Order: sequence, then structure tokens, then C-alpha cells
Amino acid sequence: MTLKDLRLDREGLSAAIACEDPAFEASLREEAFRVKVATVGPEVYLRGLIEISNICTKNCLYCGIRRDIRCERYELSEQEVLAAARTAAKRRFGSVVIQGGERTDAVFIGKITRLIKAVKAIDTGEDPPLGITLSLGEQSREVYQEWFDAGAHRYLLRIESSNPDLYGKIHPAGHSYERRVQALIDLKESGYQTGTGAMIGMPFQTPEDMADDLLFYKALDVPMVGMGPYNPHPDTPLTRSGAAFPADGRRLSLGLKMIALLRLLIPDINIASATALEVLDPRGREKGLLSGANVIMPNVTPDAQRLKYNLYNRKTLLRPGAFPFSPSENAPAGGKIVIGFGRWGDSKHFSTDT
Ligand code: 5AD
Ligand code: SF4
Repeated sequence: MTLKDLRLDREGLSAAIACEDPAFEASLREEAFRVKVATVGPEVYLRGLIEISNICTKNCLYCGIRRDIRCERYELSEQEVLAAARTAAKRRFGSVVIQGGERTDAVFIGKITRLIKAVKAIDTGEDPPLGITLSLGEQSREVYQEWFDAGAHRYLLRIESSNPDLYGKIHPAGHSYERRVQALIDLKESGYQTGTGAMIGMPFQTPEDMADDLLFYKALDVPMVGMGPYNPHPDTPLTRSGAAFPADGRRLSLGLKMIALLRLLIPDINIASATALEVLDPRGREKGLLSGANVIMPNVTPDAQRLKYNLYNRKTLLRPGAFPFSPSENAPAGGKIVIGFGRWGDSKHFSTDT
């Protein structure tokens, strides 16, 4: 297959995903990088990732912090979250992401509301204040609104798979696909720049499923996508079931091609280069940026707790706060990428929408 044959409908996307020709992959990734620079510019925007807690009430079959897994649990104090946010401000990351396991108890909800206000009040020494993205799972419409009104302006909620049958296979009974889609609609209606995404290279997942994931993002008209390779965790039911999935090299290739195809399909959105790429290749996230992604989330969680946010194999082996390039280097990837220090870097797709 060549770039000239590429069509961006279900059949064409599936064929591009299934194609294992390295020359095709290289030309696709180059073209996506070109379209990125032409549409949203050469900048990569930074969001300091704060993993607030690995306590989760959900039991997703692939996840290393699922409810029924035995692991040491933690929750950052408000002081620890604010210290991490100040670190992000000092390093001129522009925004933070507060991510954690799903909890819907009133104590947790109130803590997040207070934290959002306190993070907004941090003096960054420049305009604007820190932007805040939340990634805290399914919540009621009222809670989404409370957090938005407190000052959070983006929210990430991955659909994990847009195929309801596949969603059913990787989640236990009681985790509802319809509920998740409704949560995404609630987020959009509450005013958030809403991001979603799916895992890539999972057991049971076909090229058509991955093509449908891309078309799902387009149909939902989201301004941000964060998707990344599935990486097994040894103690999860999905790994223990022995279900087959693509090898490391193939999942890396799929992850990069999905970024490239999405950039061609929806040129003006923000696309994150996921940490999950980096466990498959020490330069995985840089390769993501060179394949069309324009957002990266350096980890600013304190070390002791970061090591316990063990979603999948080898995640905690990554260097803390790791950049795929040195933060002091203003011209990573040979000058092809410019770091948008101190900027929010909101999605162009969102601003043209509203
Ligand atoms: N491999 C890759 N990503 C995973 N996540 C959870 N478990 C895994 C895994 N085994 C991702 C999910 C979730 C986010 C918090 O982490 O996509 O949305
Ligand atoms: Fe909880 Fe998210 Fe892991 Fe599911 S994927 S068990 S909701 S942390």
C-alpha cells in the first residue's frame, strides 16, 4: 500500500492499520507530521501529570490498579498535590492533569473542588495561571459542572474501545458502555474541552475496531484524543486469560500509525503522545510527536507514589517526569519540535467550534 491509495473511510483506515509495510508506515508518519506543523504548528504543549490516587472503585479487566488487585494504595494529600502543581509551574509546563482512579464519594469530590481552586491560585509568575485537565472517570453531571465551575477546563475520559462488544469483553459486568458515552456527552455539555481515546493492540481487537475508534472520535467531535498501546499487567484477569495480542514492536507500530491516521482524519485537534508508547521504545513519545501528536504529559507525581500508580508492565521503570528529550533543549528532534513552555496550548478544534 502507498500513501496515494490511502482513503480515510472505514475500509481505507482498516487497510492502513492492517498493512505491515515499514515503508508505508514511514511515509504515513511523515505526512502526518507535515499536516500537524501546517495545521497546529510545530509546538508540543506540556501538561504535568499528577497521579492523585491509585484507589479505584472500578474493576477493569486490564488495569493494574483495578479494585480487586492486591497492591499498596495511596492518596496524595492536598499539600502534595499543590507541591506537584508548583513544580509543574516552575518548570513552565503551562497546565496540569489531575488523574486518578474513579471515586464518587463526597469527601473525594469536595477535595478535588478545593484543589482546583487552589491550583488556579498558584502564582506562575506569568500569564496565564495553570490550566487544569481532570481525568477522574465517570461522575454525575452535577459533579462535572461543580469542577468546571471551580476552574477545570479540560477532561479526559477514554472510551477504551468504541466497539460495545469489545468493551464488554475487557470490562466486568456492570461497567456500562452506554453510561460511558453519556458521561462524554455530559462533559461536552458542561463546557469542558473533552478528550477521549482507546487502547491500541488489545486482545480481541481487529483493524476494523481501531478504524472505528478513529471514526468515533470524529463523530463525537472531540477536540482532544489520548490513545496509546495496550500493555499487559501480569496480575490482571485479561493477562491471566492468556488471550493473544500483538507483540511489542507491532503495538508500537500500531500506536504510531493510529496517531498519524488521526492527524490526517481530524487535522486541528490536540493529540497526546502517550506514556504507554515509551515502555515499548525509549524514544516512543518523541516518535509520537514526529508522527502527528502535539501534547505530552511529563509525570510530576512524587516518586514514592508514582511507583504505586502501576497501570501496566514497566510503567514505573520510566524515568520520573521523563521527557523524551531534555527540557533544557529548546530544539528537540533536530529542531522539528518546539516546546510551548508556559502555554495552555488549547485545541484549535475547540476554539474554532465555539
Ligand atoms: N495498558 C495500557 N493502558 C492502560 N490503562 C489501564 N490499563 C492499561 C493497560 N494495561 C489506561 C486506560 C485508562 C488509563 C487510566 O490507563 O486507558 O484510561
Ligand atoms: Fe479504575 Fe481507570 Fe483502572 Fe478502570 S482503567 S480500574 S476505572 S483506574
